[in-house]
Amino acid sequence: MELDKILEKRRSIRKYAKGDKVTPELVKDLVTAALEAPSWKNTETARYHVVLSPEKIEALRGKAFGTWNQQCTENVQALVVSTFVKDIAGYQKDGTPDNELENGWGIYDAGLQNSVFLLKAAEAGIDTLVMGIRDASAIRELLEIPENEVILSVIALGERAETPDRPHRKNPDQILKFH
Ligand SMILES: Cc1cc2nc3c(=O)[nH]c(=O)nc-3n(C[C@H](O)[C@H](O)[C@H](O)COP(=O)(O)O)c2cc1C
Repeated sequence: MELDKILEKRRSIRKYAKGDKVTPELVKDLVTAALEAPSWKNTETARYHVVLSPEKIEALRGKAFGTWNQQCTENVQALVVSTFVKDIAGYQKDGTPDNELENGWGIYDAGLQNSVFLLKAAEAGIDTLVMGIRDASAIRELLEIPENEVILSVIALGERAETPDRPHRKNPDQILKFH
């Protein structure tokens, strides 16, 4: 599929149908593609904690989400917790930050990777929802995520039961300045 078509197809989906397209192999393919994204000094600090079992998905939805995201994730086939290992990207080997953004670079790198992940999912006919409204402590406890990883979003994977309209987007002239 052409990139323009994939960009058009990817939408945040908040209503899912039951399905079985999301497998460990598929998730591995998405992560393999995501690893092609650039990262600070090629440090590749992004990590993915994948929950596929229906019982664990329910536990995560119940303990880490509020009502809105719980409602949006009914019937999802996987929840993928995006994290990164802190104090590496943006830092020298002795731990000195390279500049003022410090661990902001780890977040930047994970975001770049996540974008590829989402687009690759759309190409494979899998729908997604990135969720930043989540309880990081509950997620850490449930999945035993080590303290050196910063928890970012939870990405739901599934098959859409709705096709939302394209949300409003700014015009390039509103965000673009040639110098
Ligand atoms: C970092 C981040 C956090 C988000 N958190 C949530 C969330 O907790 N719940 C939700 O329903 N949507 C969430 N979204 C989805 C955005 O609302 C959505 O991407 C935006 O409205 C644009 O719609 P589109 O993805 O269909 O283009 C999040 C998106 C991003 C990138």
